[in-house]
Amino acid sequence: SCGQQLLKNVPLIELGRHRIKPWYFSPYPDELVKNLECLFICEFCLKYVDSLPRLKRHLTKCLCKHPPGREIYRKGHVSFFEIDGRKDKVYTRNLCLLSKLFLDHKWVAFDTDIFLFYVMTIWDDRGCHLVGYFSKVKESVDNYNVACILTLPPYQRRGYGKLMIELSYELSKREGKLGAPEKPLSDFGLLSYRSYWSEKILDILCYRKCLSWTVKHEDNMDGEEADDMSRISIDRLCEMTGMKNEDVISTLRTLNVVNYSQGGYVIVLTEDRLRKYEQRMNQQTSGDGHDAPLKLDPTCLQWKGKH
Ligand code: COA
Ligand code: NA
Repeated sequence: SCGQQLLKNVPLIELGRHRIKPWYFSPYPDELVKNLECLFICEFCLKYVDSLPRLKRHLTKCLCKHPPGREIYRKGHVSFFEIDGRKDKVYTRNLCLLSKLFLDHKWVAFDTDIFLFYVMTIWDDRGCHLVGYFSKVKESVDNYNVACILTLPPYQRRGYGKLMIELSYELSKREGKLGAPEKPLSDFGLLSYRSYWSEKILDILCYRKCLSWTVKHEDNMDGEEADDMSRISIDRLCEMTGMKNEDVISTLRTLNVVNYSQGGYVIVLTEDRLRKYEQRMNQQTSGDGHDAPLKLDPTCLQWKGKH
């Protein structure tokens, strides 16, 4: 019933100043999209219509210049809005319909009540333009912090995905939880998480400018020991990143930095790896700003953890 086998039913959408070719089927009303060349979507309220004149008429009445909900983050031109799927049903259902155009295997839940949506926008003098979003189950027993995540195609591969992932972990940390995305992840989803996880772990390891660590499995290090830069526990890495144990371990494995030696695990960073990391960081910080990495600034996040 998730429409996976159904053929793509919308050949093109117009959203703000973008024309985008959908990737997958999405359950927009049959009567509306039948034989349609382009679906016109209001970039602010996400209402959809079947012609440009209809969109123009809508835009004369639509006063929205940003998503509903509460703006919880703003830095530079980037904002995040937190939207309750139970309160803003029309908007969040329209968001699900839009995002299903780019989501394949995962069933996009159209019963929005149980989700919070974190919508990312870029602001200019015309309003807050939709870039992407992630959804999150309100009460997750497994501490899942992302259900679905999407960067709209025109904005992909510019670091917005990782910025959203970073926010999802920051929210988990503020809830005092270790979080993880719901599995399975799509191919692009997995690539993005791998890249994000590796970067976070390397940030911590390379910051200490130390090439080898004894891995302690239990976090029973007292204060003095915790200051010892050559010792680290998996628990500590989890705590610092907000990541679950299994994701920290799989990332260390993927980075190929864990060795078994004398009855215990050690993390070994090669000089080469450290140098490459430093090079990359230097490039990023001395860049012309165009490719500067989008980093979450936790001081710009107005969010406490309980609503
Ligand atoms: N090809 C190769 N690598 C890719 C990739 C692609 N098409 N898209 C992302 N990556 C990798 C890159 O390694 C990148 O890291 P880098 O900085 O080391 O190059 C990393 O993923 C993150 O890239 P980023 O620009 O932050 O991500 P994004 O804004 O493009 O968003 C997704 C990533 C997954 C949200 C986006 O691809 C998307 O919306 N896909 C469709 C929906 C989906 O599959 N969602 C996940 C399942 S719920
Ligand atoms: Na997918």
